[in-house]
Amino acid sequence: MQILDGKLVSEAIKAQLATKVAELKAAGKKTPHLAAILVGNNGASETYVASKVKSCAEIGYNSTLLRFDEQISEKHLLDHITMLNENADVDGILVQLPLPKHINEELVINTIDPSKDVDGFHPMNVGKMVSGLPTFVPATPYGIMLLLEHYQIPTKGKHAVVIGRSHIVGTPVSILLSRSANPGNCTVTLCHSQTTNLKEICLQADIIVAAIGKPNFVTADMVKEGAVIVDVGINRVADASKKSGFRLLGDVKFDEVAPKCSFITPVPGGVGPMTIAALLKNTYHAAIGQKV
Ligand code: GUN
Repeated sequence: MQILDGKLVSEAIKAQLATKVAELKAAGKKTPHLAAILVGNNGASETYVASKVKSCAEIGYNSTLLRFDEQISEKHLLDHITMLNENADVDGILVQLPLPKHINEELVINTIDPSKDVDGFHPMNVGKMVSGLPTFVPATPYGIMLLLEHYQIPTKGKHAVVIGRSHIVGTPVSILLSRSANPGNCTVTLCHSQTTNLKEICLQADIIVAAIGKPNFVTADMVKEGAVIVDVGINRVADASKKSGFRLLGDVKFDEVAPKCSFITPVPGGVGPMTIAALLKNTYHAAIGQKV
């Protein structure tokens, strides 16, 4: 069993981007600039956004963090997005999800200029991704593909089972895995809460992508010997022995599943850091006006 070390690979990607940014600066070109919007006090969202902003600074990007109270009106939020759309210095815009219930997420995403939509959530960019056209690919699926690519995991003709059909992870990763590309060319089964015989389907998987948000959901009896396991879950579980009061658990019961696998991502240190590396790559491409 080998660990798919997202921390290591993301550091290598960030180092490459830092070199490219230094080259842009030396040539008198624009420094990439990411603007992040955070609404409310969701602890996990705060951690993710802080990590994204910190990573920008590490590699020489500019960043702006706009923080708003939970009570912000939808109109006020949309006005801020419009201002960022019109600000030529801002290359990438991300609105951390989830948003409070009184705000229409779809409207918010639709308001982001598709050319600055580094999360790849705008329907125009989703449409381009589905059509196989160059665009911004959502960061977590993109990060997963970069990780598979780095470790040269064979994917052609393999059966990939994706658990979870969210717009952020499950649906886009199933599209990318089935694409005629490398990595890609998988036969994909997309499972969700209404799937029957989930265990039997998982047992046929060469690759499992677990993106359901339920701690320890995938157990050893669901995994074929030698499978590749990508664990997208970052679940906060109460733990009084930790200073933070919680510990992070993946969607996969790591200790019992790992011995059966050929490759597995740890939590933390797997998909999480790759998401940030992918977001930074998208932001670089937004700044230079190129898509992947
Ligand atoms: N919430 C969970 N994952 C993501 C992500 O990749 N981007 C944004 N904007 N919000 C998220």
